[in-house]
Amino acid sequence: LAQVDVDVTQVAEGQSITAKWRGKPIFIRQRTAKEIDEAKGVPLADLKDPIARNANIPSDAPATDPNRAAIGQEKWLVMIGVCTHLGCVPNGQSGDFDGWFCPCHGSHYDTAGRIRKGPAPENMAIPLYQFTTPTKIRIG
Ligand code: FES
Repeated sequence: LAQVDVDVTQVAEGQSITAKWRGKPIFIRQRTAKEIDEAKGVPLADLKDPIARNANIPSDAPATDPNRAAIGQEKWLVMIGVCTHLGCVPNGQSGDFDGWFCPCHGSHYDTAGRIRKGPAPENMAIPLYQFTTPTKIRIG
C-alpha cells in the first residue's frame, strides 16, 4: 500500500505501537516530557549524524528534536523502525540513551531516534506522513 492510515487514539503518553508500511515497521511513539527534554538537551555537535533524515522537511535540515518530531506535535515520533546499520529492527525503551537499541551489533539510538553510539551511520529515517486528525496519522 502506498499510504496507510493509523489510528493512535489508544497510544497513551509513554507508549508506542508499530505499524506496517511498505513492508517496513513504523514506530509510532507518544513521548514523555522527560524524553523530549532529553532529546532537546543534546547539542548538535554530539550527534553522530547531524542530519534530520526526515522526508517531510528539507533533506539538509539539522537533526534537532523539533526536526525529528511531528510538526506541531512534538510528543509524537514517527519513524521507520529499521536500524541504519544492516537493517535489524531495534528494541524500544532500551539502550544507553533511553531510546532504541539494536541488538544485532549494538547501536544505541536516543529518544528522537538519532544514532548516538554503535556502528549505525544514520539516524532512523522518518517517512513522509501527516496527522489527518489529532489521532490519525497517514503514512506515505
Ligand atoms: Fe543494527 Fe547492525 S543492524 S547494529
